[in-house]
Amino acid sequence: MARAPKKNYWEDALTIEEVEVAPPGPGEVRVKITHTALCHTDAFTLSGDDAEGKFPCILGHEAAGVVESIGEGVTHVSVGDHVIPCYQAECFPEDQASDHCPRCRGYRVGKTNLCGKIRPFTGAGVMKSDGASRFTATSDGTKLWHYMGTSTFSQYTVLHGESVAKVRKDAPLDKVNLLGCGLATGWGAVENTAAVEPGSSCAIFGLGTVGLAVIEACQKAGAKRIIGVDVDPAKFELAAQFGATEFINPRDAPDTPVQKTIVDATGGGVDYSFECVGSVELMRSALECTHIGWGQSIIIGVAGAGQEISTRPFQLVTGRVWKGTAFGGFKSRTQVPELVDKYMAGEVKIDEYITHSLPLSQINKAFELMHEGKSLRCVIEMH
Ligand SMILES: NC(=O)c1ccc[n+]([C@@H]2O[C@H](COP(=O)([O-])OP(=O)(O)OC[C@H]3O[C@@H](n4cnc5c(N)ncnc54)[C@H](O)[C@@H]3O)[C@@H](O)[C@H]2O)c1
Ligand SMILES: [Zn+2]
Ligand SMILES: [Zn+2]
Repeated sequence: MARAPKKNYWEDALTIEEVEVAPPGPGEVRVKITHTALCHTDAFTLSGDDAEGKFPCILGHEAAGVVESIGEGVTHVSVGDHVIPCYQAECFPEDQASDHCPRCRGYRVGKTNLCGKIRPFTGAGVMKSDGASRFTATSDGTKLWHYMGTSTFSQYTVLHGESVAKVRKDAPLDKVNLLGCGLATGWGAVENTAAVEPGSSCAIFGLGTVGLAVIEACQKAGAKRIIGVDVDPAKFELAAQFGATEFINPRDAPDTPVQKTIVDATGGGVDYSFECVGSVELMRSALECTHIGWGQSIIIGVAGAGQEISTRPFQLVTGRVWKGTAFGGFKSRTQVPELVDKYMAGEVKIDEYITHSLPLSQINKAFELMHEGKSLRCVIEMH
């Protein structure tokens, strides 16, 4: 568990403690987590920069597991089902029909994947049915906040039914857990948010897991030029394997803004750019490296609390578009199972993103690897 925020100090990032996990309340599902990966967002919240971060809590949001028990009224999953927790929940058709969801109703159905039904509760770290947490530290009775409505760094967790995607049983849980965040986000940013066309030019800022997933999807979409931008040149070789065609390390030309380098190299700018770092300066570069008239820049990286983006309005007046995406625009409960099918059909990569696997006892080592840029995804074996 994360007892308190930790900055620049990963050896004891989390404490491993015994926690009592209460039974699921109405509409809730208790899941035995078999595998969870670490995502940069976990480290971001742990750093204390996340405005919504609440401590003490149990972090983790990229996972897979098996339904252990269900609360009253749960009908879409049963005990023993294999599931992927979804931090971006998706309400049920009956919510939409009866106007129960603040965002997925009436003419707005289908406009967004940002279902609002349980969002105030997942943001506050509690369950909707009673406004309380299901986690208690055994040692001192401290109540622990839930995180992103998932809290997957726990052998058992309680989820809102809206956050539980049922997946086929032949899919390996130690792989498909990655569909809970990073890969779905990167692929969806290209397919859903940008809708990259064949022949396009694309620039990807940040070649971590999310950036590589963007590259994979750009290649699949038929992009002709895929420019990878990272300050760590060690990332370039792998990015080439995922489909990047050329690379820029902004530190090679410290006096030239990277957007100028890209505009010059592409005869006016790229068609699409993706910010996969979380830096507001890079978000500006990413917008300004796109082509006048039609360039689109997609913000995926999560910036620190209180930070703001800026550019000259002229950049937008002259046709560039600034967009963002959460979970790649995918509707989680219904579309994550489709992504699992794609993986099982060999249409998308997952295994290639898993560079490490560690037992739960070494979860802090996984934070260290991520912090040092040595891992893409480290999968934690939870039992
Ligand atoms: N929008 C969403 O739904 C969503 C989902 C998942 C992750 N995220 C966010 O996406 C971002 C990337 O996640 P990740 O797991 O791939 O992270 P990561 O740490 O694995 O990768 C980040 C990469 O950016 C590079 N980098 C750092 N500073 C840079 C700079 N100034 N210029 C160029 N490159 C730079 C690093 O070397 C690294 O390769 C994070 O901010 C994360 O919080 C957003
Ligand atoms: Zn994530
Ligand atoms: Zn909804």
